[in-house]
Amino acid sequence: MRTKNAKTIHLKDYRPPDYLIDEVELVINLQDESTHVTSRLHIRKNPASEAIKPELKLDGEALQLQNIELDDQPLGKEAYQVDERSLTVPNVPERFTLTTQVVIYPQQNTNLEGLYRSGGLYCTQCEAEGFRRITYYLDRPDVMARFSTTITASQTDYPVMLANGNCVDERELEDGRHQVSWKDPFPKPCYLFAMVAGNLQFQQDCYTTCSGREVDLRIYVEPENIDKCGHAMSSLKKAMAWDEAQYGREYDLDIYMIVAVNDFNMGAMENKGLNIFNSKYVLARADTATDSDYQGIEGVIAHEYFHNWTGNRITCRDWFQLSLKEGLTVFRDQEFSSDMGSRGVKRIEDVRLLRNHQFAEDAGPMAHPVRPDSYIEINNFYTVTVYEKGAEVVRMQANLLGPGLFRKATDLYFQRHDGEAVTTDDFVRCMEDASGRDLSQFRLWYSQSGTPVLEVEAEYKVQQSSYRLRFRQHCPDTPGQQNKKPFHIPLEIALLNSEGRELQLQLRNEAEPQGTRRLLELSEADQQFTIVGLDEKPVPSLLRGFSAPVKLRYPATDEELMFLMARDTDPFNRWDASQALAQRTLLNLVADYRAGKTLELAEGLVKAFETALSNETADKALLSEVLQLPGESTLGDQMEVVDVEAIHHVREWLRHALASRLRQRLLAVYQQNGSQSPYDIDPVSIARRRLRNLALDYLMQLHEPEIHKLCFEQFEKADNMTDVMAALSSLANTDCPERDLALAAFEKQWIGEPLVMDKWFAVQANSRLPGTLQRVRALMNHAAFSLRNPNKVRSLIGVFCSMNISAFHKIDGSGYAFLADQVITLDRLNPQIAARMMRIMSRWRRYDDQRQALMHAQFERVLSHSEISKDVYEIASKSLAEAADDQ
Ligand code: TRP
Ligand code: ZN
Repeated sequence: MRTKNAKTIHLKDYRPPDYLIDEVELVINLQDESTHVTSRLHIRKNPASEAIKPELKLDGEALQLQNIELDDQPLGKEAYQVDERSLTVPNVPERFTLTTQVVIYPQQNTNLEGLYRSGGLYCTQCEAEGFRRITYYLDRPDVMARFSTTITASQTDYPVMLANGNCVDERELEDGRHQVSWKDPFPKPCYLFAMVAGNLQFQQDCYTTCSGREVDLRIYVEPENIDKCGHAMSSLKKAMAWDEAQYGREYDLDIYMIVAVNDFNMGAMENKGLNIFNSKYVLARADTATDSDYQGIEGVIAHEYFHNWTGNRITCRDWFQLSLKEGLTVFRDQEFSSDMGSRGVKRIEDVRLLRNHQFAEDAGPMAHPVRPDSYIEINNFYTVTVYEKGAEVVRMQANLLGPGLFRKATDLYFQRHDGEAVTTDDFVRCMEDASGRDLSQFRLWYSQSGTPVLEVEAEYKVQQSSYRLRFRQHCPDTPGQQNKKPFHIPLEIALLNSEGRELQLQLRNEAEPQGTRRLLELSEADQQFTIVGLDEKPVPSLLRGFSAPVKLRYPATDEELMFLMARDTDPFNRWDASQALAQRTLLNLVADYRAGKTLELAEGLVKAFETALSNETADKALLSEVLQLPGESTLGDQMEVVDVEAIHHVREWLRHALASRLRQRLLAVYQQNGSQSPYDIDPVSIARRRLRNLALDYLMQLHEPEIHKLCFEQFEKADNMTDVMAALSSLANTDCPERDLALAAFEKQWIGEPLVMDKWFAVQANSRLPGTLQRVRALMNHAAFSLRNPNKVRSLIGVFCSMNISAFHKIDGSGYAFLADQVITLDRLNPQIAARMMRIMSRWRRYDDQRQALMHAQFERVLSHSEISKDVYEIASKSLAEAADDQ
């Protein structure tokens, strides 16, 4: 093993903790060079412990221990042991207090875990295992304690000091310092601890809960951002009302605080009563944030709020159960966003994310179950599988139970497990107990990794007026898992007649039709259903609403796809048919291109697009989704060996061909959907902008000076960031004089706004023009760029390596070397972010031999560094391991 800490942790080794902590009193003294933390823990032996020795072992990393007392008696050096990761006290009583004093250095903390500085602020991030960088503790989620926190600091530099719960005391000290105390009445695991200190202002509001309690709502930001909190605040109030109406969940403290910070590893964190957010998910003003930023804020604010019940009141027993809180909370935030905006479009966006990223993860060397069996570094398991597939697994249970029983089941879950640290199994048991259903086979969705493939055969028998559907499922092998058992798959179907009407569905063994939409339940590897009483051959609408996270293989004809695209009564399936048709067209073109044939535009797709564009009454949001071609990575996933160049060439060619054939229509769409002032973020306005900007982007493929002018005019005149960014990203892909003018003007205007500059970095990193890598390297020296800021790393390095597929995979290997360079540098600053970047290359086996060799060499280079973190080690070593099935 190259890294000394690279030890694998297994679910099967879970043991209850030997000691419990009832109460924690923290005193945190913030000073210029260092911070002093005194912790007083009220500890007792766990009656459920299996230990024989009376030995207490606390977690602690990067701490300097100054003093230790047991029941207020100082312990001599012989009475305890300290090493790099723990503090052990071999002889402890059944019940005692342990007081430790440590010194930590938040100023030097660049990994953004534990207590760190972001600009002029102090803030914390404790999930998953950051609290052990603040003080010695039992850093595991099944140890729940009541926390009180006292913070002292300079009054002028840190006028605001926050922690979990309610403020119970504030006082001035000598030497210009002050002290604030907070008390959280709810027991919680330490990963939910938070504190913040700095010069912050807040926007305040008030929410009256369903039982009539008043909650003080506050969003804390740096003073220059106080005018960008309105949308976050209104999102929060909507989320609070929604959780009361949909789940009967009321907020439980008198105050709810959100703090926005610029340096943050992920999106946001649900710390009890004191959420800490990446400023990207709080700050918005029409001229600085796009529609999708607004939607992201609404979703993430809701997500963290919903965690108060699904995560905080009921938490995870251990980190293998992460999806207990994340899968469920993502499902809840998805449903909330559907209710706030367009349900059909939200479902499409979520499924697109799942297919593009989660299916890819499931088919690669990092594949793992929703409830993983093992990990080296838990931070590497905050994945699309745990979050997004986890949400699908909850969604399937909600659909299997139906709304009434699902609500009964979640009520039972909240009632049975409030205040506990539980497992995904406990969750499923609530679903079973409330519904009387047996979900034992369903549980395989938590333990088996990989994406099931569902092959469908259909046969219409005229004489019998019957229609037979045969389903065969199999799931490919994944690392460590072979020969999987069949899944319990809920499959929603309808059958359409030639006019697009839904037909009555009656299975052969049924006395009468049971309606037109059905949730079939598959449980065997090979299974058939026969529908009777059909006097014409129907067109099947399968897997409606994407009722299960599977790959459906149904050999639809082009005509069937075009029919479904126009007529299916399920908006998701209308979109899905359009994508299938476009994908088929593109893959045929790729084959032609590889065979050296001249490319020809398939009339089917043109017709389908033309029809869609001419439909005056079409839902514009859905239409925009339909008109988007599948991305290069999606197409690559369909090929035996990804042909980077062919895919890129063909997709660009098709965009150009469609634009030139549909020029007039696209121009009309552009003109008819002109921007309306003032800017509004209702779903209808969002859809108009989306469609108009999509039309513009197609038109920009034509390389006509007139259109360049049109685009630049939109860039200059728009009153909102959505239209500005749409124009700028089209220009960034176009070699025209307006390009540099726009980029320079944008930079000049927004140099002082970090979140807006992220967009400026990202459009350049994603440019299809040649020379982009050199440009990215140069931009790393820009004054607004910093490797210490994760948002900047994601905008420039992340976007280039993961979105600009053909530039990153350039055959000279320059993209791979660049990524490895960045991983090596970043790993010393922030291993979590370095590991996220390393992951981009994890599916290297999907490429041709030459690229494989180049990527392999870069993995070797990263692994040869002696001080590599376990975060990066885990990704790099697992990527190189023999894959069970990486296709
Ligand atoms: N629990 C957080 C959420 O999903 C995410 C989270 C996990 C996180 N680990 C983190 C956020 C580390 C920031 C840093 O809402
Ligand atoms: Zn979450």
